[in-house]
This record gives sequence, C-alpha cells and structure tokens, in this order.
Amino acid sequence: STAQIGVTGLAVMGRNLARNLARNGFTVAVHNRSPERTRSLVAEHGDEGRFVPGESMADFVASLERPRAVIVMVKAGAPTDAVIDELVPLLDPGDIVVDCGNAHFADTRRREEALREHGLHFVGTGVSGGEEGALHGPSIMPGGSAESYRKLGPIFEKIAAQVDGVPCCRHIGPDGAGHFVKMVHNGIEYADMQLIAEAYDLLRAGLGAEPAEIAEIFRTWNGGELESFLIEITADVLAHTDAATGRPFVDLVQDRAEQKGTGRWTVQSALDLGIPITGIAEATFARSLSGHVDQREAARRAFADAGTKWQVDDRDAFVEDVRRALLASKIVAYAQGFDHIRAGSQEYDWNIDLGGTATIWRGGCIIRARFLDRIRQAYDEQPDLPTLLVAPWFADTVGAGVPSWRRVVADAARAGVPIPAFASSLSYFDALRAERLPAALIQGLRDNFGAHTYQRVDREGTFHTLWAGDRTEVEA
Ligand code: 6PG
Repeated sequence: STAQIGVTGLAVMGRNLARNLARNGFTVAVHNRSPERTRSLVAEHGDEGRFVPGESMADFVASLERPRAVIVMVKAGAPTDAVIDELVPLLDPGDIVVDCGNAHFADTRRREEALREHGLHFVGTGVSGGEEGALHGPSIMPGGSAESYRKLGPIFEKIAAQVDGVPCCRHIGPDGAGHFVKMVHNGIEYADMQLIAEAYDLLRAGLGAEPAEIAEIFRTWNGGELESFLIEITADVLAHTDAATGRPFVDLVQDRAEQKGTGRWTVQSALDLGIPITGIAEATFARSLSGHVDQREAARRAFADAGTKWQVDDRDAFVEDVRRALLASKIVAYAQGFDHIRAGSQEYDWNIDLGGTATIWRGGCIIRARFLDRIRQAYDEQPDLPTLLVAPWFADTVGAGVPSWRRVVADAARAGVPIPAFASSLSYFDALRAERLPAALIQGLRDNFGAHTYQRVDREGTFHTLWAGDRTEVEA
C-alpha cells in the first residue's frame, strides 16, 4: 500500500485529475470499471508521475495507504451510488470517499450520513474548470468533515489553481456544503452566459454588426472590469469562422441551449429557501424557451412585425451603455448567488465563509473573473453585508451604470429584442431600492378573499378587515 490517493472512474475528468495529482508528486492509485482505460492511462501518461494501476476494485483499495482517500469520478446519480456500494465493504473506519462529480447536495447529505454510520468520511466535492481545469488546476470545493480535510486539504490545495499564491481550494463546510456551493457556481455560470448572450444580441441588433466585429468589442471589454474567462472565450467563439462555409460559426449553430440540470437545481433550491435569484432563474428559463421550437415557430409567424426598427446613432455610446448594463446585471446575479449561499449555509448549519468562497472562484473555475476579488474583499470587510449591491465598489459601479442600464433595457423593449436577464436584473435592483412596494396591495387582496391578515405601518399587531361585513378592522 503505497498510493497516497486513488481515483476511480477514468473518463476524461477522472483521468485528468489523476494526471494532475501525479504531476504534482502524489502517488496515485487508478481504477476504472473496464480496465482498458486504466491501462491506456498508464501507457500514455505513465511518465508524468507515479501511478499504481488496480485491475479490480479490491486491488485498487489495497494499494492505498491508510487512512485511504478515494476519489470517485463517475456520472452523478445511480452510477455514484453503485461505486460507493462496491467501495464501502472494502474500506476501514477513518477512510475517506471523495465524490468529485456534479452531485445534488441532497444526495451528498444522504450519502454522507450513510457512510458516517460505517465510520467513513464522505466528502462531496465541487470541481470546476472542465477538462483543462482538472488537468492544470481546477477550483475545488470540498464539503465533508474538518477531519477529512486535514488529509485532503494539502493534496487538493496543491493541485488547485493558484491566484496570487493562494490556492483555489478551501474547506467549504460539512456534508453537502461543497456540492451546494458548486451548484450555485453553476447557476451563476448560467446567468453569466445568458447576460453575455443578451449583450451580444443587443450589439448585433443595435449596431447591425457582424460577429467578428462584436468579438473585438468583447476583447476590449476583457481588458477592463469585465475581465473574465467567459468574456474571453466569447470573443474567441464569435471570431470563429466555419471552415466548411466560411460563415460565422455562431450563425451555424442551432439556437437551442441545452442543460444538464445544475442550473435547474439552483433555482429549485432557491425557491425552497425563498431567495430571489431572478438572474439565474431567467437564464435557466431562457434555455428552456430556446428549446420550444414549435411554440417559437408559431409565435414567429403570428407576430412577425411586432418589433420596431432599431437604429443606433452613436456607436461608441451604445457599446458603453451595453457594457455598463452588462456589468450591473452581472453584479445583481452574483449578489443573488451569494445571498443563496448564505441562506443555504444558515438552513443547513454549514457556516460557509462567503469571502472565502469568492476567493477560490478567482481562478480555475468557469466563472473565474477579476471581479471576484472585489467580492472577496467586500465580504471580508463586512461578513454580514445585507447585499453585495451595497458594498462600496459595487454600489458605485451599479450606481454609475443606472442610466445606461435603463436606456439599454428601454431601447431593447421598444425594438423587440428579448433581454430577460438584463430586464429582470434592473427590476430586481429597482424593487430592492423602492421606498414602498405594491406588496401592500397583495396583502390587502389576500385579506379580502381569504382573511389572510396583514400588518400595519402605524401600529403593532396583526389585523383583518371585515370585507363582507361593515369593513371594520379587527385584531386577528
Ligand atoms: C464547471 C462547469 C461544469 C458544468 C458544465 C455543463 O464548473 O466546470 O460548471 O461542471 O457541468 O458547464 O453544464 P450544463 O450542461 O448544465 O450547461
């Protein structure tokens, strides 16, 4: 037993994680259900470090030093349970099972509880950064016990991306905390991408610009406050020309966005916790809408002329308006995502450090961005910040962007360009800062039809008006 850590499940993510571990000097036990993959990994990459191949699960487990640490990198859901069931009888108390797949945090909580009964640690771990990240340095979000992190921390912190000498990995909190935070990361990823897509659509409609020209705009934006991996690859994708036709690649891709479910999970959880993550919800629904081709076709025929012509006079001013609207909407999406993490942390007693979470998203992950350092700073300075929107830099940036934001949303509405995430982010902002909300009327209606009661602004207590009677007010 010589391996410090093991990886079972050697599809591309598992393979790359194993290689990353080996390249960083760890001795890695490797295993796959069909041993072909194990052999090919060692044959192709054996020179990158020390691999200990295991043909069977028993061989694999036997090759690990104790306490054993086993990374499971298989498809979320039933395949994960199947591997855990196979592993558990082979392990001893104190051993650690690490699930690096995109599991739902509720499944992780269930598995953690079940394995705890066997004296085992189960560590649901979010890993972001795709194939490249897994190999060169992902962002790693481990949940599970503090004790398990004492073994895993030094290993994971070494293979994670590093920003300013700080690893993009930290212990998030017990049981499902890691997978919860990864889920919200993906939700924010959905919102970020939807906002980018809307900005592209606005530029295209407003300027009548070609994708290659818009790619240049994104490239310029990437030199400023919007600097991020997603903005960078947007420039790349928009500049790409299809080899077969010579046309812009983006014009040849079917306009139906798919999803594997993490965005939907985020929205479902936020509904349960009562946290308005409107940006993520709009982004998730926008993907669903794009897939309803029959409805789109019918509506397109019925309302062909419902928009108006859009002619932007001042190109540079318009581009700057869209940039500011994008930045403000993005801030709203992140503010909502961090609210969601705080609520999950309270609900499940996870004690998640919000600044720490922002810290490990600065590199390695899909939403890595310059601006995450500002989020880290904001929560480090004021851990009980009511909303990210009011932290100094964010308040200044959003405040300065408001006129642009309003112009862009109003112009798009007039022209008939759909901008669900831009528009709902602006509405969220306006709702939060409103002196009075029409929620008062909703309370009145609820009391009128269902005696659901209300509170008054001028007196303590809970009240009901006798709507069907003489309309006197009674204390409920
Ligand atoms: C990451 C990504 C990744 C996610 C894909 C696909 O952090 O590396 O979030 O985990 O699975 O982005 O997600 P959808 O298929 O749902 O778009």
